[in-house]
Amino acid sequence: MKKLAIALSKGGVGKTTTAVNLAAGLAKKGKSVLLVDVDTQGQAARALGAHPQVGLAEVIGGEAEFETACTAARANLWVLSGGRTLAGLKRVITRKDFGGEQTLVETMQGVDGRFDYVVLDTAPGWDALTVNVLFYADAALAPVSLEVMTLQGLMEFSRSMGAIQKYHPELQLKYILPTFFDRRVRKSEEILSQLQAHFGERVCAPVRYNVRLSEAPGYGQTIFEYAPSSIGAEDYHRLTERILQDERA
Ligand SMILES: Nc1ncnc2c1ncn2[C@@H]1O[C@H](COP(=O)(O)OP(=O)(O)O)[C@@H](O)[C@H]1O
Ligand SMILES: [Mg+2]
Repeated sequence: MKKLAIALSKGGVGKTTTAVNLAAGLAKKGKSVLLVDVDTQGQAARALGAHPQVGLAEVIGGEAEFETACTAARANLWVLSGGRTLAGLKRVITRKDFGGEQTLVETMQGVDGRFDYVVLDTAPGWDALTVNVLFYADAALAPVSLEVMTLQGLMEFSRSMGAIQKYHPELQLKYILPTFFDRRVRKSEEILSQLQAHFGERVCAPVRYNVRLSEAPGYGQTIFEYAPSSIGAEDYHRLTERILQDERA
């Protein structure tokens, strides 16, 4: 079971878009996938048109069973929703005397091996919930927007991850995903080559700017459903293939 965190401290870089469409892409390829929303905004389930009554916060808090909260969203694809209830949970984790960072690991123990992939969407910023996700995950994928200079943010994120790796050495910053790529904008190409110089093979083929990607969640659809022949679908298909290829390697 691969545990992949979609994370970067910056907001609006395409984390949720990537979590949802990558999870859907993997499920389409026959993998069983659990999408876990670890953001208080709770957009991931909604983007799939699902409106579960209970989610991750209730499972961690012991108010709901995993089986009840885990909602079937598509063939092979389940979602554990996030949302505002996670804010209360964050306070509980922070107040624990010790072991707070292992809360998600403990909760997910029973889930071990039940899916091929667990994809975790995280909130912007660096908080107790994101730390929990990184203690649980074995790989992180960091989307980096090519619209703004985010290399520094990525380096900071990579350093913060280093602090967690001391205790959780399995964790790797495995993928850098350039997003909002626009060939007409010179800066886009510049940032991309800087990323490649720093991170080499870890840099995935970029996801281009595509308005269809921003429209799809409003219809509760993945990009593969909403606009299957769009460049957004093409780019997330390519990302899915890259991840599957690494699994076979
Ligand atoms: N490649 C893209 N092209 C155009 N719009 C995008 C793209 N990726 C994401 N978006 C839109 O940009 C906004 C921020 O993306 P989102 O995935 O929510 O970022 P994050 O989760 O990092 O905050 C959303 O409205 C989303 O629909
Ligand atoms: Mg998000």
